[in-house]
Amino acid sequence: MAELLLALDVKGAEEAIRVSRACEGELDAIKIGYPLILSTGMGIVKELAKSNIPIIADFKVADIPNTNALICEEVFAAGCSGIITHVFCGSDSLQAIVDGAHDHGGRAFAVCEMSHPGALDFLSGANAERMAKMAKEAGADGIIAPATRPERTEILRSIIGNSMKIYSPGVGAQGAQPEDIKKYVDGIIVGRAIYESADPGKAAHEFRLRAL
Ligand code: C5P
Repeated sequence: MAELLLALDVKGAEEAIRVSRACEGELDAIKIGYPLILSTGMGIVKELAKSNIPIIADFKVADIPNTNALICEEVFAAGCSGIITHVFCGSDSLQAIVDGAHDHGGRAFAVCEMSHPGALDFLSGANAERMAKMAKEAGADGIIAPATRPERTEILRSIIGNSMKIYSPGVGAQGAQPEDIKKYVDGIIVGRAIYESADPGKAAHEFRLRAL
């Protein structure tokens, strides 16, 4: 059984609140990213968190350790309970995010392999496997791995074991189906197939059932 995470990549507070309210009761977490935050500011986090749902900041952080630590301070002060970071900046940068999250009682997730075709240029294969090992060594709470390539996510699962979570984007608009991936992961991440739906609540309900 996989959780359902909504990738709330809408613009503007009004639309974010409309979609999140429509999906209330169907989601295990909301993932926010640059499209929403750049259009609303971080204040939207407290608004979304009013319905007691965990908010994960998908900022795909990629900087030096000090900057990463400062980013964590802001993300968790705003009310997020998780943060997503890149790994390719190295073990010290990754560790700053993991420690920054844990110091604030939050969780850190590491992008190991991306879901889009261009991921095959760099964020896949041996690089992804190395980053999964690094995420485990750093004490990350989980990794991000693609629903669009279940065979790759299965390999990454074998590297990190079962004590870390895998959240998996690529379901819906990018072509993967919940049934393709749910046995390898702890949660599926769905964006456009829910928030662009005429009835986001119904779409979320259907994805939740298919992820069971
Ligand atoms: O709309 P869609 O369902 O394709 O949204 C997928 C979400 O997951 C987006 O927020 C995207 O940035 C994110 N993501 C991804 N692939 C990754 C990591 C994050 O698609 N490897």
